[in-house]
Amino acid sequence: MTTIEQSFSACYSFPVCFTRDAFAPSNSTLTDVLRRAGERSCRLLVVLDSGVAQADPALLERIGSHVEAHRDRLELAAAPLIVRGGEACKNNGSEVERIQAMVGQLGMCRHSFILAIGGGAVLDAAGFAAATAHRGIRLIRMPSTTLAQNDAGVGVKNGINAFGRKNFLGCFAPPFAVINDFNFLQTLAPRDLRAGISEAVKVALVRDAAFFESLYAARAKLAAFEAGTMENSIMRCAKLHLEHIATSGDPFESGSSRPLDFGHWVAHKLEDLSSGEIRHGEAVAIGIALDALYSCRTGLLGSEDLHRILTLLQQVGFNLYHRLLDDMDLPRALREFQEHLGGELSIPLLKGIGEQVECHELAVPLYREGIAALAAGTRKSRKRETMDEQEELPDDETRHSGSLLHGEPCPAP
Ligand SMILES: NC(=O)c1ccc[n+]([C@@H]2O[C@H](COP(=O)([O-])OP(=O)(O)OC[C@H]3O[C@@H](n4cnc5c(N)ncnc54)[C@H](O)[C@@H]3O)[C@@H](O)[C@H]2O)c1
Ligand SMILES: [Zn+2]
Repeated sequence: MTTIEQSFSACYSFPVCFTRDAFAPSNSTLTDVLRRAGERSCRLLVVLDSGVAQADPALLERIGSHVEAHRDRLELAAAPLIVRGGEACKNNGSEVERIQAMVGQLGMCRHSFILAIGGGAVLDAAGFAAATAHRGIRLIRMPSTTLAQNDAGVGVKNGINAFGRKNFLGCFAPPFAVINDFNFLQTLAPRDLRAGISEAVKVALVRDAAFFESLYAARAKLAAFEAGTMENSIMRCAKLHLEHIATSGDPFESGSSRPLDFGHWVAHKLEDLSSGEIRHGEAVAIGIALDALYSCRTGLLGSEDLHRILTLLQQVGFNLYHRLLDDMDLPRALREFQEHLGGELSIPLLKGIGEQVECHELAVPLYREGIAALAAGTRKSRKRETMDEQEELPDDETRHSGSLLHGEPCPAP
């Protein structure tokens, strides 16, 4: 037998820029990032989320004027392609195929660019199309939701849902650049402004206690979507995600340990079961609450820390219970999560705020207790709201039942 072994490494680097009004004629963010390609003029196919196009009808004209103002460096291959926004874009391969077909019809080459503007779902689908057409056309992402700007849009994952599984088809492919334009947040519905805050809470919990403290202190401002607070938390969250990709030693997630998937095993199943009715960020908030409760009940996390986590999520406005949790097949959800990650089961839990620990076996009955506690907490808070609509809660009080927050920790499984 003869074996030839060859090894090589590839270095990836991409900028994540923060700006406002990226398509103002005087804004040079896009042309500056394109300069890195070292080409005289760049050909672009703009792929646009229908939700963004609807919320900001003047955007198409601004894109046209911007390209015209920079015509020495930019060329539109065609009018922007509007694709269905939200999970509908990922639920089958049709939008990916439309993008791939356009790449072929327009004669775009591997030195052309797809400029994808949208929420996490559109970016995931457009990224998959870009990575597969011609085996990879360069992709510039312009994330347009809180979650896309602080998480989905800045990473290296692309994909769509298939065969009833979330993100079943996809690839790891770093973008050429990411441009986070805070002005996109102005047209977002409250629900989508809020959803991404859960990813900031998640990354703070597993990586950065000081960030958690700042989120906790700013919870009233976050609940009101105060622009400066939102922008600071998006930047810090994006930075933490990027640092993880760059320094974890596992950017393409070959190992079984995935600290940034804290709160995600239940979240993925909830999203599946709701067929996209529950937003990713909303499901993650519930997943964080359950994993934090479990961490506390197994004696890993102090009850005061649990109290603060649940208080933050609730006061930002997340609903921490959904009826789909009641009948969820938890062992199956765990199996699917393990299968998607590969290797042994590895669930990130908390042993303090900012400190994560991997757990390889879970006691499912304890999760059921957690679900029951969240359901009871939600019922109690609804009842209280109805009885006492005018009375404001004291600053540090949670709407959860005291027993849920201060119950004795359960023994470790
Ligand atoms: N690739 C990754 O690393 C990664 C990470 C986290 C989440 N995700 C994926 O991201 C998706 C969720 O993304 P999301 O939370 O951004 O939601 P989303 O993409 O589903 O968008 C939510 C809604 O907002 C609309 N919208 C988007 N931008 C808008 C704007 N500026 N103004 C008005 N409406 C706008 C969309 O049309 C849609 O209706 C999920 O599919 C999830 O799996 C991917
Ligand atoms: Zn997530």
